[in-house]
Amino acid sequence: MGMIPQDIIREVLERADIVSTVSAYISLKRAGRNYKALCPFHTEKTPSFVVNPDKQIFHCFGCGEGGNAITFVMKQEHLDFPDAIRRMAERASIVIPERETGDPKIRDLKQALGHVNELAAQFFHQYLMTSRDEATKQARDYLKKRAVSLEIVEKFRLGFAPDQWDGLLDFLRKKDISPSLMEKAGLIIAREKQDGHYDRFRNRIMFPIFDIKGQCIAFGARAMKKDDAAKYINSPETEIYVKGQHLYGLHMAKPAVSQEDRVIVVEGYMDFIMPYQAGVLSIAASLGTALTVEQIRLIRRYTKNIVMLYDTDKAGEAATLRSLDMLIEEGMNVQVATLTEGDDPDSFVCKFGGAALLEQVQKAQNLFDYKLTLLKQQFDSRSVEGRARICAEMLPTINKFENAIVKSEYMKQLAQTLSISQEALIAEMQKLVAHSRGEAREPAPQRGLLKEQPRKVEQNILKLMLEDENFVSLTKEEIPLSDFRDASIRTIISEIYKLFEDGKEINPLNLMNCFDDQHVRSIIAGLTVHEEVGVVDKNKVYRDCVDRMIQDRRKSQRQELLIKIRSAEVTGNHAVLEQLKEQYNQLVKNKG
Ligand code: UTP
Ligand code: MN
Repeated sequence: MGMIPQDIIREVLERADIVSTVSAYISLKRAGRNYKALCPFHTEKTPSFVVNPDKQIFHCFGCGEGGNAITFVMKQEHLDFPDAIRRMAERASIVIPERETGDPKIRDLKQALGHVNELAAQFFHQYLMTSRDEATKQARDYLKKRAVSLEIVEKFRLGFAPDQWDGLLDFLRKKDISPSLMEKAGLIIAREKQDGHYDRFRNRIMFPIFDIKGQCIAFGARAMKKDDAAKYINSPETEIYVKGQHLYGLHMAKPAVSQEDRVIVVEGYMDFIMPYQAGVLSIAASLGTALTVEQIRLIRRYTKNIVMLYDTDKAGEAATLRSLDMLIEEGMNVQVATLTEGDDPDSFVCKFGGAALLEQVQKAQNLFDYKLTLLKQQFDSRSVEGRARICAEMLPTINKFENAIVKSEYMKQLAQTLSISQEALIAEMQKLVAHSRGEAREPAPQRGLLKEQPRKVEQNILKLMLEDENFVSLTKEEIPLSDFRDASIRTIISEIYKLFEDGKEINPLNLMNCFDDQHVRSIIAGLTVHEEVGVVDKNKVYRDCVDRMIQDRRKSQRQELLIKIRSAEVTGNHAVLEQLKEQYNQLVKNKG
């Protein structure tokens, strides 16, 4: 399935009234101009969920969720943007002309690849269940030895790839599948010195990998003997399978994940399967080492709460640490659970059972404590150098939190734990912030624990840019991108510049289509449901906005300097102090 035509999106948006959209799921009570209800996104006893028909938006004052009709459907049904549009179009009896969606060649190829993978999964599974040859018996024994139940074998359609060069090849040929398609699906490999192909997977236990809708898109294949060259081999990337964009088992786990509002993320196939079999149902496997942004966003459709449960070994720790910063950036609430040394979730469950695993999950540490504990093992916190190293590792993580209260609380804790002054820590943080501003790469839009709306002035400039292209070039010349404080606004504006340079039309719908991110889309949607800046002198409004931005920049520069001055006073660094004061005076003088 490809792109949905612009006019269809427009039509869906025009027809989707927020009140009737929301009413299809929950019952709303009139309250003045608004409607109220118990929030469907968190548990509450008194209603703090408000729908505003004038602005066509919803907002929950309890949990901070908010957006327009589309974001509501996305959130409620755990859909991505195109699928939410499809669902809403369906309800409004708007037909999406499939022929126009995307490149039909690619679409047909994707469909064909899905079909071949399904057939292959069926073949491997049948083989495991029914074949009487020696290798297959060993495969069944292997699964028995690892305590995998028949029910789970069927539910996750585990299979066996026979110990032959053309087992699957033959089967698929009889189903009229061309070798070229099998090769594109990564199931067979072309011979090097002669014509023909051979099966990629031989004499291995097969784990079909499913996408979120439960369609088989790839395979992981485990060797049964220790001396095999590779323990697992996996399907290569194809038109329907990109590594790091899926989570193993999530298609089955998603109801439990939604219901418990939490997901446990493990590393491997068996680390998913054995806990799931033992009743730990809100779980998924990342199938690689560190989590990717795409995987985090997929999880975020179902829950914001994630417990990392990687192998308790050096590799698992390193992968956990690599995932943490990104998880914070993506606005997830993260905890980290650990197991007995050297265990992984599979071996732990086999030894102690599912309830014991859940106990470990209950005891999970927050990421601050987890990271700090690891760092204290690594560096000597009694030495000055050791403490400096620990700070250097902790500060960037703390800085990833958008919420100022959370940030300062962690700063306080870090200072206390290491017995250093908070002022020194703040000074280090300032350096870090100044340094990261200099970086060219735009950071990903951040969502804090409390989702903050961008400043009115930034929203106004954006709105003007959407209404009149003159303001696009003006803004590009006059306001440095870094002056916009809201990361989502910066991302949106960069995208506008791109559209502008490519000579494409800039309108809210075009723009919304550029983003996968719900929060970013809801900002754009929010602008479109507000009234136009309108007939008033737009140039005057724009000038006022620019002035405001400049004033704000000066103000924050002054504040930054004041913090530096304060910490220089504390550390008693007189030379630096004089310099800073001089800078401060200059800044104040140039105000006019
Ligand atoms: P592990 O080595 O921890 O394997 O790799 P495991 O999951 O514990 O497997 P068992 O219990 O020995 O059967 C974790 C994950 O990394 C990927 C797989 O997705 C695996 O589940 N991996 C590992 C590979 O892709 N290839 C490999 O050779 C090894
Ligand atoms: Mn294992």
